[in-house]
Amino acid sequence: MAKLLFLGDICGRGGRQWVSHRIPTLRRELELDFVVANGENAAGGFGITADIVQELLSNGVDGITLGNHVWDQRGFDQAIDGLPKVCRPANLPEGCPGRDFLILERNGLKIGVFSVIGRVMMNMSLDCPFKKADKLVSKKQGLNGIFVDIHAEATSEKQAMGWFLDGRVTAVIGTHTHVVTADEKIMPKGTAFQTDAGLCGSHRSIIGCEPDPIIHRFLTGIPCRLTVASGDIRINATLITFDPTTGLATDIQRLEDKQPE
Ligand SMILES: [Fe+2]
Ligand SMILES: [Fe+2]
Repeated sequence: MAKLLFLGDICGRGGRQWVSHRIPTLRRELELDFVVANGENAAGGFGITADIVQELLSNGVDGITLGNHVWDQRGFDQAIDGLPKVCRPANLPEGCPGRDFLILERNGLKIGVFSVIGRVMMNMSLDCPFKKADKLVSKKQGLNGIFVDIHAEATSEKQAMGWFLDGRVTAVIGTHTHVVTADEKIMPKGTAFQTDAGLCGSHRSIIGCEPDPIIHRFLTGIPCRLTVASGDIRINATLITFDPTTGLATDIQRLEDKQPE
């Protein structure tokens, strides 16, 4: 059996540093083959930089997926082609830089990783995530597993992606809402599924950010600057065990790793 740990959206320095500190130990303790993280909020809550990518990779993250915040950091569109362990959402419009599919190799195993962004309440120009996922999955042969990050707002769209890919990939795990869901399961044809992996960052927050400016925005409708919260830092992750001969999952477990305060 092989093991993959997926980390929910890493948010800000607090989340990043705790992830960097804990992953080497978790790799050893849980005997992980692969660690994949969604890094779309790693740089101050908005996007990611090449330096942060290197920081995460050097601490034991094997591959990084992104989401709607992919281009928030200036210059990242120029940098992404030089970052072979990072994939941008696969259903961005044609012509965007970056890889739409990663192949990760560890311990004699080879897996594919990609993310797609949902189209419900995302307000972005995107190709169909289902057709794009279908195309990517059917093209790739000879892999021991495929991991899919469905980055979406609507729980129904995420669950639809799980059912759509059931039996064809190892796992479909949701990101973007930053709230871990308790619905992890193995689907009938062997794909592990969870609606959202949660947040690696401050849980004394509203989805990773300081509550007061967000409350003010809800009360007044006036746009405000969001700042990453601090305190109660937790890793929200999902551990998937899979059979590398079939590429299908045998177990899925939520895992929370809280920083002592
Ligand atoms: Fe996010
Ligand atoms: Fe997002």
